[in-house]
Amino acid sequence: MIKQPHDTLLTSALNTLLTFYGLLLFPPLLSILDYVTRALLTDRVADHFKNLKSMELSLFSASSSSSNAPALKYEVFLSFRGGDTRYNFTSHLHEALCNKKIQTFIDYELRRGDEISPSLIKAIEDSHLYIVIFSQGYASSRWCLDELVKILECKKMYGRIVMPIFYEVDPSHVRHQTESFADAFAAHEQRFKDCLDKVQRWKDALKEAANLSGSDSRVIKPESLLIKAIVEDVLKRLNELPSSDDTNDLVGIDSRIQEIESLLCIETNDVRSVGIWGIGGIGKTTLVGAVYNKISCQFEGSHFIENVREESEQNGGLNGLRRELLSAILGDGNVDRGSSFAASNFVNKRLGRKKLLIVFDDVTSSTQIESLIRGLNCLGFGSRIIITTRDKQVLKNCRVDQIYKVDELSNDDALKLFCLYAFGQKCSKEDYEEMTNRVVEYVGGVPLALKVLASSLFEKKKEVWESSMKKFEVNLDKDIHKILRISYDGLDDNEQNIFLDIACFLKGKDVNLVKDFLDVCDFFTEVGISALVDKSLITITKNTITMHDLLQAMGREIVRQESSTDPGKRSRLWHHKDIYNVLTDNTL
Ligand SMILES: *[C@@H]1O[C@H](CO)[C@@H](O)[C@H](O)[C@H]1NC(C)=O
Ligand SMILES: *[C@@H]1O[C@H](CO)[C@@H](O)[C@H](O)[C@H]1NC(C)=O
Repeated sequence: MIKQPHDTLLTSALNTLLTFYGLLLFPPLLSILDYVTRALLTDRVADHFKNLKSMELSLFSASSSSSNAPALKYEVFLSFRGGDTRYNFTSHLHEALCNKKIQTFIDYELRRGDEISPSLIKAIEDSHLYIVIFSQGYASSRWCLDELVKILECKKMYGRIVMPIFYEVDPSHVRHQTESFADAFAAHEQRFKDCLDKVQRWKDALKEAANLSGSDSRVIKPESLLIKAIVEDVLKRLNELPSSDDTNDLVGIDSRIQEIESLLCIETNDVRSVGIWGIGGIGKTTLVGAVYNKISCQFEGSHFIENVREESEQNGGLNGLRRELLSAILGDGNVDRGSSFAASNFVNKRLGRKKLLIVFDDVTSSTQIESLIRGLNCLGFGSRIIITTRDKQVLKNCRVDQIYKVDELSNDDALKLFCLYAFGQKCSKEDYEEMTNRVVEYVGGVPLALKVLASSLFEKKKEVWESSMKKFEVNLDKDIHKILRISYDGLDDNEQNIFLDIACFLKGKDVNLVKDFLDVCDFFTEVGISALVDKSLITITKNTITMHDLLQAMGREIVRQESSTDPGKRSRLWHHKDIYNVLTDNTL
């Protein structure tokens, strides 16, 4: 990989510092280290958080490797005759699909050669849904016809969805190959005299495809409405696809999604807010992510803001978040013009005209919401706000309409989730049943704790289970911190050091940067990081290392306990106050 100069510079600066930092906590360097991590990295961190947030909430899809249904590359494949609609109808439809963040394949290449290209065939196989735009000249293109044959093959073999659009053509002309379609086939029969069976396959394909229910541009007018109807239909059909990740994190989640949906009353036209409340690690974000994925297509605009608390503490903080929110929802480029834009009356008016779904995840104060949206009455009819928090008082201060408390998983679901992570299946392995029951009973129904503990026992011998059980029993307190600590204690020195560095300094940073960073400290970074991922202690999403807040807090607590009274005796310092005190008191 070729690094940009900025990266190289940054990495080597950090490397140098870390080399020293690994040797001893030399005071001036310490403050530089602090300066570097806090100041220099801010840009990068901000970028990474942006990436994190713009991602299609992949956090909520299967993070473990055992997902069963193959994930396809495209959600929609557009089949059309370039000469007829490339520059008008299809381009508008394509844009509308992209605006809804639907992964769409479109081939703007001019067709040459005899066959459709292998990459096109691959794209067809790699798509969930096909929109076939029948226009006057569709059948005159043998590439279009070949494409259609392949599409119908995938429909038959994999049950993929085909949606025909009759664009300025009569469906019966397509179906029975009359009018312009008859002319096209007369030419084909002439040209392909020697392989009439191929021409017959094309005819059959047209007949079959045109027989499917589709949209007719002569019925739905104007074109803008036609496009809107098609996009809605596409969203609806894609939403109905079985999700490939319901075997993983989403155990026991269906009934909760339904409960939240009923609190949201999506059908009613008022503005409504729902607060989701529960302890850390209980799965609020996962749950709200699933709700968001399910219903966001029913709104004119939607946005999911992760980590409101963490973001609001960063440089730029809430103002940056507000600009990002506006840019995502209003979708225009004026947002970067500074704070006057975000405060402008015009912007608030525009916001108030849209039916929106906004999720604020991990909110710690009602003022955060006030800074981000000026108030619920600023939103358009039918809008919905979802706020998650650990603190019920925050929801009261925000005056949400409904509060939903996320309870622990039922015993059955807890067992299922645990077994998925410990054995890769929904029930316990033979011989492990009794121990599994005991662990689950001890941990209770807190998904994070279940996942972390189960992962630490994955493919471990019975003896390891036994000794872990003994630890639980000594440590009878059910505090989640203490449960999670057991997994930390099970790490080797190398993994523990990496874990603590990530908890103290490196959470949210680029994985390659972190590897460079740690390699200098003589850690076995590659194996260490992959071990931490396997143990569910960190996750890597879009090249960024993330760690649950609770795990981070635990890591920092471990470091703090190295010397609870004297920060100078700790292995790592991350808080500027501690660093300042250590430097000024010279207690190092
Ligand atoms: C769309 O554009 C093509 C040329 O690119 C043109 O032949 C066709 O008539 C246009 N369709 C409509 C409906 O205007
Ligand atoms: C067309 O659809 C009808 C029912 O909707 C079905 O009976 C018929 O077999 C279909 N024809 C073709 C060619 O698929």
